[in-house]
Parts: sequence; structure tokens; C-alpha cells
Amino acid sequence: MLSQQDLKQQAAEAALTYIEPLLSPEAVIGVGTGSTADLFIDGLARYRTQFRAAVASSERSAQRLAALGIVVLDLNEVHTMPVYVDGADEINERLHMLKGGGGALTREKIVASVAKKFVCIADESKLVQVLGRFPLPIEVLPLAREAVARVARELGGEPVLRAGFTTDNGNQILDVHGLTISDAVALEARLNQVPGVVTNGLFAARPADVALLATQQGIRQL
Ligand code: 5RP
Repeated sequence: MLSQQDLKQQAAEAALTYIEPLLSPEAVIGVGTGSTADLFIDGLARYRTQFRAAVASSERSAQRLAALGIVVLDLNEVHTMPVYVDGADEINERLHMLKGGGGALTREKIVASVAKKFVCIADESKLVQVLGRFPLPIEVLPLAREAVARVARELGGEPVLRAGFTTDNGNQILDVHGLTISDAVALEARLNQVPGVVTNGLFAARPADVALLATQQGIRQL
């Protein structure tokens, strides 16, 4: 029986195999945040002479990449990326994701938006029928925290401030519990319209293009 850590490692290795044909001396690779993304970064170091650089979705990933000798660029220096690789807290069969457990959701969404392909890597426990068992993170400007929390309550959720946590952008996170997300595209748009919301952790308007899910039986590609 493989452990969750083994499965994450398998998903990371599958992503490396997947992106290998996309590597070139000009290629810039988008890199996500989290424990699965960390394993991807560690493996990416083996290929460091085969691509130009990476763009990271967090300070944490940027530091890990740099420590392994991978050049890290600011997104403003990059026009396009063949691929962005990241984990997820939940993913459904439509490849809609719920992300932001690590608090990097805003930069993740921005970096992913510049990439041609979003490759989601996860162990099979992240695959769900309906998103929302994992609390939905919303990055908010501190000034708007209570106003956004009221809207989250009106929508049926129970917002909880992520205590002692500040995002890389200097903002706060509300983790919204108790939502059953039947229409992820609509909820993503609705929440992003609330003044003071920087972004929310639904990645549905722009879902993943490919999911590489590690199971006890091997990699399942969606
Ligand atoms: C960070 C994220 C991560 O992708 C998500 O939390 C999954 O992390 P892990 O690979 O550690 O399970 O969205 O903001």
C-alpha cells in the first residue's frame, strides 16, 4: 500500500514526464505551491539545463527553485509559458479545482493564466464529485474582511479568518466552510465581484487542462 507521500511523488514524476517534450532553451515553466509542487520542483532540478527558467506562484516556491539552481523570473518578464504545474485541494471530473490551502491562490491563478496548459498533480484523495468539503479560501484586503465574511454567510458558508497568516501580497485569507459548490464557475465569478476580494480559490473559469492523479494502481490521467 503506497502512502500519500508516495502517491504525491508519483504524481510529481508523472508531471515531469508529461512536460519533458515541452522543454526547450527558451521555455519558461510555471510552478505552483504546496507539498506536491515541492516534489515537482525537486525533480525539475534534474532538467534545469533543458529550459530557460521558471516563474513561481509563491515566495516559498521561488526560494526552493533558486536553491536548486533554477533561474526564477518575475512574471512581468515573461510573455508565455508552455505549461503551469500545480497541486490542488480538490478537483472534480470537469477539472474544476479548489485551491489555496497553502494561501498562494492569487499568484497561482495569475501565473496559470499566462500558461498554455495547466497540469494539476495530486493524489487520488483530491478527486471529488462536488467541490466544497475542503474550506474555500478567499484572499481579502484586510479592510474588507468583515464585509466579505457577511457575503460568504449570505451564500450559506461559514467564514473563518486564517489566524496568523498573511499572504505574499500582504492580505488575509477567509476559509469558508460548509459550501456545497454545485456551480463552481458561477460561484467563482460571484465571489470575485465582491469589493475587497482579491480572488477566491475556485479555479473553474479556467480549469486544469490535464490532471495526473496518482492512485494505488498507477497514474490516472483526466
Ligand atoms: C496552495 C495550493 C496547493 O496546490 C494545494 O493546497 C495542495 O497542496 P498539497 O500539494 O500540499 O496537498 O493551492 O495554495
